[in-house]
Order: sequence, then structure tokens, then C-alpha cells
Amino acid sequence: MPSNLKNKKVLIGISGGIAAFKICELLRMLVKAGASVRVVMTESASKFVTPLTFSALGAESVSTSMWDPGRDSLEHVSWADWADLFVIAPATANIIAKMAAGIADEVLSTQLLAYDGPKLVAPAMNVKMWNNFATKRNIKTLKEQGIELVGPTKGHLASLIEAEGRMAEPTEVYKSIEKILQSKADLEKYRILVTAGPTVEPFDPVRFISNRSSGKMGYAIAEIAKDRGARVILVSGPVAITPPSGVELVNIETADQMLKAIEAKYKYIDVVIMTAAVADYKPKIYSRQKIKKTKSDQNMLMTKNPDIISTLAKRRGRKILVGFALETQNLKAAAQKKMLEKKLDMIVANNPTLKGVEFGSDCNKASIFVKGKRATDLPTMTKSDLAGKILDEVIKLLKRKKK
Ligand SMILES: Cc1cc2nc3c(=O)[nH]c(=O)nc-3n(C[C@H](O)[C@H](O)[C@H](O)COP(=O)(O)O)c2cc1C
Repeated sequence: MPSNLKNKKVLIGISGGIAAFKICELLRMLVKAGASVRVVMTESASKFVTPLTFSALGAESVSTSMWDPGRDSLEHVSWADWADLFVIAPATANIIAKMAAGIADEVLSTQLLAYDGPKLVAPAMNVKMWNNFATKRNIKTLKEQGIELVGPTKGHLASLIEAEGRMAEPTEVYKSIEKILQSKADLEKYRILVTAGPTVEPFDPVRFISNRSSGKMGYAIAEIAKDRGARVILVSGPVAITPPSGVELVNIETADQMLKAIEAKYKYIDVVIMTAAVADYKPKIYSRQKIKKTKSDQNMLMTKNPDIISTLAKRRGRKILVGFALETQNLKAAAQKKMLEKKLDMIVANNPTLKGVEFGSDCNKASIFVKGKRATDLPTMTKSDLAGKILDEVIKLLKRKKK
């Protein structure tokens, strides 16, 4: 059954009901579909299923307390920022009441209060608890907040009577999760061209000048844009990573080839995101034969490569142009200057000499500059997460341009 939930981040909140065992199956389905899953459990939930069970079944991490000295002390907030969806299953009458009232007195309710993304609640309880006036009122409050519910259904409860209050089956909860997560097709109508990786500038048949770009940032943007419904063209220099499926890949080596490849598609493109590390200079002379070693030092004459983004900016029409600024000093000032000079809509500034976000890393730390807006400084995050943030800004720019 599992469809593609790759790169989706699901936080499952488990409260203390007998149906907690059903989350083992739900977790397996989500993991199988490629989602990253973290679990947060109330103390009562741990009486029904141990945290270890969820770790063993593929949860990235399981949190049971805010006061665990071995863990990140701000986990209750950072997990809330991490998740694309918060699923509360099974949801006891108690956690539903706390959600409705805004109570934050243990790890799950605290994370729920700190989370402002979509929530899915799967209630499970005894029929009298479900029909209780307080529970009905609390459910109404959750619905008014736009919180989605799945179940409960009528069936055999733990007390063996057949009545309403049984948690929806894991397959039903999974379907609801899928529906919510896959509805983010906000780039569906758009064609996005992403450049990635280094360029390679040869000076004889066996040697070249290049740089350390891994291509991971551009590939992450291409993949997330495709997942969000865009038609993606990825113009890539030589890299050692696998391209995402479902994107049109154009392999190039030099800056000249990159410009030519973009120009061939440019007319049909809505957004260009230039993450590629394009060489500013190339060797002026290309030797058809391998250059021989001599006894003396050698000088190499370099000539300027085309300024791709400035060339594109001259014929931009209504296109959105996004650049990347990679600097090792005075990053923000240089990025802002580049954005204005090259007439970009947006620039992402990053410094790969910082610890933890070096070339080739899966993480990045960036500041986003959007024309006419204050810069946003982002914390260190995975390149996929940063890709999502960049595309969120791109969507806003596209909507602004439409007006
Ligand atoms: C065996 C057993 C099963 C329970 N099943 C449920 C249940 O399905 N739904 C519910 O709302 N409460 C159930 N409870 C009561 C909750 O565990 C109790 O209200 C607890 O305070 C909930 O804490 P929590 O919401 O922090 O997890 C059950 C209690 C026991 C002892």
C-alpha cells in the first residue's frame, strides 16, 4: 500500500490508551513509505507499549519526557518546528481535553502547544468517555481550530462491548496522513529550472579547473520541487550523487555549456534557481594535446566565463530568479550586493567553511534575502529542509508577481 512519503516528517504523539499497540503497524507503514518518523509518548502510553518497541520499528527518535538530561533541552520546541504533520494516535479523552484547553503539563501536550502545523487526531476511548459532554465539547473546539479527525469507529472496545470509540484502523489513519501530506502540491503549475554542482573548465584533454561543490543543495531543491508538483529541469555539472527520479536531467561540464543548456529551456521556465558553483574564470587556451611537464614554472592565462545569471536577468520577463551566494567572509553584505547588482528576486547566502555545513555535508546554514524584505537567518538544517524553506519563499514571489 505505501505510496511515496519520502522526505515527509511525521511526528506521532501516543497517549495512554489500549490502542497504542496499533501504532506499531502505522509506524511500519510510514517508514516503509519513506517518511521520517519521530514518536512522543505520554507516561501512560509507555505503560501499554515500550518506547523501545517504536525505536526498533524504525522511529528516528522516541521522546517520553522533557526532563531527560541526555536529550536536547529544547526538544519540545525544535521537534514542533521539524514536523510536517503531528498525528495524535491513539488520542485519549485526556489529551483531547488538554489540546482543547491549551494545557502543556507533560511532553506530548507541550509539543502540541508549540506546534502550529497540521494535526491529525485519532480518538480512542470507552463509549461513555466519548459521549461525555466534556469530550464532545472538546472535539468541537478541535474541529473549530481546523484540526482533522479520523475515527473513532464503531466496533469492539477494550471492554468487549460493541460501540463507538474504537480507534480507526492503522490503514485508515495512514490514508488520512497521506491525504494531508500529499495535498501540498503548491508548485503544480510551475516549471522550475535548477542548476547544481560545479562546472569543470578543461585546459587540456586530461586536466581541468573546478571546485568542491557536491551538488547536494541543488539536487535537494530539484527533488522537493518535484515532490511539490513542479516540472523540474536539473542542469547539473559532474557530481557523484544520484539524481532524483521524475526530473529532467541535463548534464553539462563547462559554464558555457550550462548557459547554452539553460537558454534552450529558458522560454518555458517560470523559476530559475542557480545553486551551481559556476567557475568565474576558465583557462584562456585549450590545448588539444596533453601539456607536457617542463623544467620551469608555468603561468596559466585565465579568461572570464559568461555571467550566467546576469545574462538571464536581461531577458527575464516575469520569471523569478534565485541566486546563491557562497562566501567565506562578509557573507551577508556580499550576498545583498550580488542580489541588487544581478537583479535577482532572492538570494540564499551560505558559508561552507563553517563547522557542520562543509562542502559535501547533508546540512546547510543559510540566510535568505528576498527583494524588499528583511533577511531571514535560518539555523543549521538538512539541505532538504532548506530546500523546502527556499521553495516556500519562491511560492510567495510567484504569487506576488501574479498580482
Ligand atoms: C487498561 C487501560 C486502558 C485505557 N484505555 C483508554 C482509552 O482507550 N482511551 C482513553 O481515553 N483513556 C484510556 N485509559 C485511561 C487513560 O490511560 C488515563 O485517562 C490517562 O490519564 C491518560 O493519560 P495521557 O492522556 O497522558 O496518556 C485507559 C486506562 C487503562 C488502565
